[in-house]
Amino acid sequence: MAKITYIDHEGTERAIDVGNGISLMQGAINGGIPGIVAECGGACSCATCHVYIESDWTERVGGPGDAEREMLECAIDPLSNSRLGCQVKVSDELDGLIVRTPESQF
Ligand code: FES
Repeated sequence: MAKITYIDHEGTERAIDVGNGISLMQGAINGGIPGIVAECGGACSCATCHVYIESDWTERVGGPGDAEREMLECAIDPLSNSRLGCQVKVSDELDGLIVRTPESQF
């Protein structure tokens, strides 16, 4: 389990515990976190679970795979620290992770 902090586009922080093996997207949905739409339900085909990984964490979280990278091109305002929340699985190593959700998903 890891404590994940989601910061919305207005700077509001919401921290929740997310179980190991659960995606950042599913954790947010389960925890009632706004700013994650997840239209495709985690199939890596909508880009509405776009999050920005806080800079201190990008190395530990790692980069996107090929399919995710292609889908991120459909996201609004992608940056070098962009990931799709449905493609990042939580583990103990991510305890304390901070992600930001884009304004476009509110
Ligand atoms: Fe659709 Fe992540 S939920 S790409």
